[in-house]
Amino acid sequence: MCGIVAYVGDKIASPIIMKGLQRLEYRGYDSAGIAILNGGMKIFKKKGKVNELLEVVNAASPSGTTGIGHTRWATHGEPNDINAHPHTSSDHSIALVHNGIIENCDTLREALKKLGHQFVSETDTEVLVHLISEFKNRYQVSLEESVRLSLEKIIGAYAIVVVDKNEPNLVVAAKKASPLVIGLGKNEFFLASDATPLIEHTREVVYLQDEEMAILRKGENLQIKSFQNEPQKPSIVELDLKIEELEKGGFPHFMLKEIHQQPETISDGMRGRLNAEHGWTRLGGMEPHREKFAKAERLIITGCGTSWHAGLIGEYLIEGLARLPVEVEYASELRYRNPIINSNDIVIALSQSGETADTLAALQHAKEKGAFIYGIVNSVGSSIARVTDAGSYIHAGPEIGVASTKAFTSQLTLLTLLALELGKIRNTLPKDYYLKLVSELNEIPNKVRNILAKENKIKEIASSIQNSNNALYLGRGYNFPVALEGALKLKEISYIHAEGYPAAEMKHGPIALIDENMPVVVLATNLSAYDKIISNIQEVKARKGKVISIITEGDKKIRALSDFAVEIPKTAEPLTPLLSVIPLQLLSYHIAVMRGCNVDQPRNLAKSVTVE
Ligand code: G6P
Repeated sequence: MCGIVAYVGDKIASPIIMKGLQRLEYRGYDSAGIAILNGGMKIFKKKGKVNELLEVVNAASPSGTTGIGHTRWATHGEPNDINAHPHTSSDHSIALVHNGIIENCDTLREALKKLGHQFVSETDTEVLVHLISEFKNRYQVSLEESVRLSLEKIIGAYAIVVVDKNEPNLVVAAKKASPLVIGLGKNEFFLASDATPLIEHTREVVYLQDEEMAILRKGENLQIKSFQNEPQKPSIVELDLKIEELEKGGFPHFMLKEIHQQPETISDGMRGRLNAEHGWTRLGGMEPHREKFAKAERLIITGCGTSWHAGLIGEYLIEGLARLPVEVEYASELRYRNPIINSNDIVIALSQSGETADTLAALQHAKEKGAFIYGIVNSVGSSIARVTDAGSYIHAGPEIGVASTKAFTSQLTLLTLLALELGKIRNTLPKDYYLKLVSELNEIPNKVRNILAKENKIKEIASSIQNSNNALYLGRGYNFPVALEGALKLKEISYIHAEGYPAAEMKHGPIALIDENMPVVVLATNLSAYDKIISNIQEVKARKGKVISIITEGDKKIRALSDFAVEIPKTAEPLTPLLSVIPLQLLSYHIAVMRGCNVDQPRNLAKSVTVE
């Protein structure tokens, strides 16, 4: 949440920073701003998308070679020009951008007001820049020292970058709980909330650790220090990311590109981990810990949003195939409700971004209780990946559309592999069933391709329900979490109210809502509950609901009962979510486009939620 970019070097800073902010816009897009040091300090801030700021900056084309920028997702204070970052000290000499939340901002603001500081915005961030200026002037210390002294007074989560117009070749940064990556160039430094703004400039990066400060001075070596002022040795990492991965590649939206990438991203998640020809699976990340997994009495899966939905399917997979008890908990609940966790537990963290604040905090809590932490993460080198004891990357590549699609199916791929491994270790999977699942999993990418080829049919369905105000999604067993995910996709990007339900629960409430205006999407592929699903569909039809069913290829019976049906290829039941979710992603996408919504950047949402 909120994106930060900074530059210090020989080049004109503003184009580098503006391009970087565009790359980070998925993190927040309600307002943006930059500060450029060019003898004095020039600040440009604008409510709205980065492009609106870009027009203003292009018109002024500021010439300085040091600067900081920010794209905001509002926490304190509505999105407007004044609340946009950077914020400045009263004398306009110091400017700061911030990602995170300063929890004790009210107390500090009152104290600073008494000392004569004048506040102009409603943000928590402004408190910190006044505090830095207060210490700098009071103790006549350097920018670095005043930042350090200020952070001692701050409670909360932050990544901050600060510049001082009297130090035109210096950028000071610090972090606690929110991410910051430093890019190393020749006689120049780049800084950003993630590596995507850096790759066109450098491959060498340093991930700043919690409670570290970075001192970036043009012409000097990178200096990293702990909050206790002890020098730290920077650990340089080579980036493995291609620029094409960050472009739309001919698709009108990132979300559509990412939906269509799924045959490849699912294969990437299986590469080196599954061999259908020889009938084996392996998960390198868990191999050194087989003993721990063999002895575990239960697993706790945690995550947020779409990752939490993947976790629910993980529960069905692991309990079904490995007979190991699994609990799935929202990270935000796990971190605060004093759960019973002990050293025999394995906590599995699911996260696309690897930066979700609630998931990170839940893991830290579980770690303190002695649990072993296994991460299933997309973003390489992210905070969650670093906090885990072991884990497996999903290798889905950068996901930029705010509504998660390819990360979900990649998470399912990894959870399936994990369940298969656990089934082997715990001797719960008959060999022939294991081999069947291995071979079926190997076929999934082709079957996804087959479903993607039905996009036009799905578009027709989208057109017939695009004006609905509500929608219901029903599924049983493995398809119940898919119903939740389908409903989430629709509400996130088209703003149609949608709910997902276990199909059998419909009669305990949602049935009251059904009339001729209510589209009901029924995931009807489970052979194990076939007749029961037919009854559910009949209950909907009896109340004039419009049934859109996702059926197994060749299912004439449910097709005849439905207003619309999308066929998906047959697979083993535990693998159906990998297929049944695809038409739901396409349906939401096309409905949102037809309604004129901003698909990649839906209102009020952000891709990476780094605040509570
Ligand atoms: C936000 C995103 C969702 C995502 C959730 C969890 O709400 O908009 O798409 O599922 O965060 O994010 P994570 O990166 O931890 O998977």
